[in-house]
Amino acid sequence: LSGLKTKVLGQKVHVYGAVDSTQTIAHALVASGAPEGTIVLAEEQTAGRGRMGRAWHSPPGKGIWMSMVLTPRVPVYFMPQLTLLSAVALCRSIQKVCQVEIGIKWPNDLLIKGKKVSGILLESSGEDERLKYVIAGIGISVNLKTEDYPEELRNIATSLAIESGQEISREHLVQAFLQEFEDLYALYMDKGFAPIRLLWEALSVTLKRPIRTYSPSGPIEGIADSLDDSGALTVINANGEKIKIYSGDIELK
Ligand code: BTN
Repeated sequence: LSGLKTKVLGQKVHVYGAVDSTQTIAHALVASGAPEGTIVLAEEQTAGRGRMGRAWHSPPGKGIWMSMVLTPRVPVYFMPQLTLLSAVALCRSIQKVCQVEIGIKWPNDLLIKGKKVSGILLESSGEDERLKYVIAGIGISVNLKTEDYPEELRNIATSLAIESGQEISREHLVQAFLQEFEDLYALYMDKGFAPIRLLWEALSVTLKRPIRTYSPSGPIEGIADSLDDSGALTVINANGEKIKIYSGDIELK
């Protein structure tokens, strides 16, 4: 990362060949004293983790499979905001590095023409209701070709190279992301969630669209209306009732 100008993020970078998951390595590095901003990058993950217990397809050499150590001194309930901030940083850095029409599906999936190109997994450890540390896991399908995807992913996943028609430098993209994240993180620590929320809303492909999600008490359907101050998604159902969604996944209909 020769052109990196960040002050904290990426000051320590650990690069691996094949690992099970960069998340696991980052957790272990924190346990042995790794500071905020430590980055773990791998060429390949054999057991990449996605949100909600899913697997993350991480073939060799073609993606950015990265974990980042953060130590924000904020209460645990700020996690959803950090999730949304990560999505904004990722979306803006991709827009800077390649010409694609990319948007955010709540909370933090990045979609191009309805297909997923990147995902974020935040894992945290808290103490006394404060966050001790967060491992932000970033997966970007950069230079994968259609044949690099198993059959069952081809209709729902894509890569930056497929969509832009050209190979993208992973190094440039990592640097752009770290810079963007550092700037937004500073803005968040200084001014709170309000400016991040506005940026998220502008990049969202979720708001004002019909969505469906599944809660323990049954399916919820309605129009995604807005984000609230905590980062929850407000949905208005057919009866005009406002329902808040705090976690999980939504389907765009
Ligand atoms: C999702 O959309 O479900 C989140 C995907 C997160 C994938 C990244 S790749 C780097 C890091 N290591 C992992 O095992 N997962 C995250």
